[in-house]
Amino acid sequence: MTGKTQTIPIQYFFPGPAYVRPEILAQMARPQIPHRSKEFCAIHLDICQILTDLFSQRGTWLVVTASSTYMMEACFHNTTPTRILALVNGAFAERWARIAHFFCNDVVELRAALGEVFSPAAISKILQEKKFSHILITHSETSTGALNPLAQLCQTIRQKSDALICVDAVSSLGGVAIDFTSIDFLFAGVQKAMALPPGITLTYLSDRYLEMAQAVPAKSFYFDLAMTLQKAKDGYTQTTPSAPHFFALQKQLHDMKEEGLANRLKRHLAMLQQTEAWVAGQELGYFTKHPAPTVSCLEFAKSQELVQDLRNQGFTIGGGYGELGARTFRIAHMGDVGVSDLNFLLDKMSQIIDDKYKF
Ligand SMILES: Cc1ncc(COP(=O)(O)O)c(C=O)c1O
Repeated sequence: MTGKTQTIPIQYFFPGPAYVRPEILAQMARPQIPHRSKEFCAIHLDICQILTDLFSQRGTWLVVTASSTYMMEACFHNTTPTRILALVNGAFAERWARIAHFFCNDVVELRAALGEVFSPAAISKILQEKKFSHILITHSETSTGALNPLAQLCQTIRQKSDALICVDAVSSLGGVAIDFTSIDFLFAGVQKAMALPPGITLTYLSDRYLEMAQAVPAKSFYFDLAMTLQKAKDGYTQTTPSAPHFFALQKQLHDMKEEGLANRLKRHLAMLQQTEAWVAGQELGYFTKHPAPTVSCLEFAKSQELVQDLRNQGFTIGGGYGELGARTFRIAHMGDVGVSDLNFLLDKMSQIIDDKYKF
């Protein structure tokens, strides 16, 4: 795990903001520096370089002091949407579709039941019927714990369409493998598998997206990604950034490089398998048949009580999201928690369930 120094088990498994190591929090307590100083620009440029090295090997990364929803909007401000296909299978995908309607009067919402994901065949079918300028995919739907088969969907789309492929990777970047080959726009707030405090969103733009953004007349100052990038080339930001987040992000990326992305992804898969094995021994089930390596959403009739029982014992897990609130709970096994931390939680949960919920 990323340079972990903590020896007592972590007891925080909330699906965002996820657990943050003390070493990272300490970075945020460093004294302020002016954001137009050489020191800040060097940090910013270093971050963008590591993001490319670690994740995409291509394209351009932007680091913006904003939450992920900012990028759901910015995606459209900088291009000309004529017909948008939104793949909707949960609350966050729903949010992006809702935003799309502000920017385009031809939004097609392809829906799947909560917990379900989209098949390449379903995408193929709709692409035969209609042409789209943008296709929106939520990689890991944090509200249900379902992981869309992103690589297969992208491959199918690219064979049949030149639509911009736009991806919400909020609860996958840093915890799930992502093939950037066909992706045009991808964003991820850092408070999930990147294991940082919320407040920064990382965004990948393909060269194609960027060319479009540069050609489209600016419709906004705050959301103008072409201008943001122009400044970022020299390490500057368009508006005053949260420098403490940049300090923390730089350290985290260096630590992730040291851990190795492949090892990090393996650790996430191991934690998913560990949770699946535990669930198999309980009278519990996954809400989805397509669980993400970062978050497990489990069905349990007394989920709210269980979350509180754990809270009373010093553990934090997530309740169900939105309409799933009363019948599911979520365990975030992402970011900088590890197998032994998760064991500690799962043992405690077995104990509580045996004592209180088994008759
Ligand atoms: C998949 C997904 N997309 C988007 C968001 C929205 O992020 P924010 O609240 O940081 O704007 C979240 C937040 O949990 C999320 O999990």
